[in-house]
Amino acid sequence: MEIKITLTDSPRQKPADQSKLGFGNYYTDHMFLMNYDEGQGWHDARIVPYGPISLDPAAMCLHYGQEVFEGLKAYRCADGKIQLFRPDKNMARLNVSNERLCIPQIDEAFAVEAVKTLVNVDKEWIPTEEGTSLYIRPFIFAVDPHVGVHPAHHLIFCIILSPVGAYYPEGLAPVKIYVEQNYVRAVKGGMGFTKTAGNYAASLKAQDEADKLGYTQVLWLDGVERKYIEEVGTMNVFFAFENEIVTPALQGSILSGITRMSSIEMLRDMGYTVNERRLSIDEVYEAYNNGTLKEVFGTGTAAVISPVGQLKWGDNIMTINNGEIGEISQKLYDNLTGIQWGKIEDKFGWTVEVK
Ligand code: COI
Repeated sequence: MEIKITLTDSPRQKPADQSKLGFGNYYTDHMFLMNYDEGQGWHDARIVPYGPISLDPAAMCLHYGQEVFEGLKAYRCADGKIQLFRPDKNMARLNVSNERLCIPQIDEAFAVEAVKTLVNVDKEWIPTEEGTSLYIRPFIFAVDPHVGVHPAHHLIFCIILSPVGAYYPEGLAPVKIYVEQNYVRAVKGGMGFTKTAGNYAASLKAQDEADKLGYTQVLWLDGVERKYIEEVGTMNVFFAFENEIVTPALQGSILSGITRMSSIEMLRDMGYTVNERRLSIDEVYEAYNNGTLKEVFGTGTAAVISPVGQLKWGDNIMTINNGEIGEISQKLYDNLTGIQWGKIEDKFGWTVEVK
């Protein structure tokens, strides 16, 4: 399918100070749109000036949350080259989410092309300062004007771009995490493995309460026994014990993170033993008490590698690695971002150039 490009005649001011970008505060001059209509399939792929989308007030996404999204980044290397990190994995995961939410499949290779074309159109917006990137947000939502509950027949696929710095104001400094015991995020058989708005809506209350107590994010426990570790608000989570690094196995309620997948491969390549398995909060607490819990860190596209300096589980406060970034988290961050920003050789073949 051809992508029709209409350029803006009123480009906007780019953020002047790249050290103050934060996350999700600015958007570029253009966006990608494509429509789906039953009987016609996906059609009318186009890049247009960034701006509001008009919706019928009865549009189904507004009532029943039939929506899926992705998050990936474009990086500007020191030699000027622009690269994406494993965009094929994002589009494959988008189709997994689509399947669960009764959204028609997209052509993954075409969606990657759409990302590349849009990033190329707005390449001047890619920030260059250390730690910055262009966050790419593809999303699909149902637009049938119908307040009856059924899978949509009409949808929009949109991609927007946002120049960003660190997701957490802490940057690479360790975050404090609240182990959530009241609320749950997802259960097996639900939508926890998808990237859909509802999973994030479900997290807001707990996140808000944790925030008021001075915690950056919550750590979710499983929804049945409230015992096994699942993931953190916007990232997957890893626990480095004396003899193994553990991340919760994907069992249907956890997001299959692309940074998670890459971190597992990279840590194994660095010589560590990494196990994907069930891990209870009791096991973590026991390891903490006997001194074998060395590091905890989160992984995510937005969060990158985020060391955890403190875990609060009920009345128990666990201070990890004296509240400082540990050796494994630092090495993983350096190696991963080194590949993403083209500073070290990509021996895994994960990066894709945008030309
Ligand atoms: C990402 O890491 O890309 C995410 O989608 C998390 C987000 C909710 C900011």
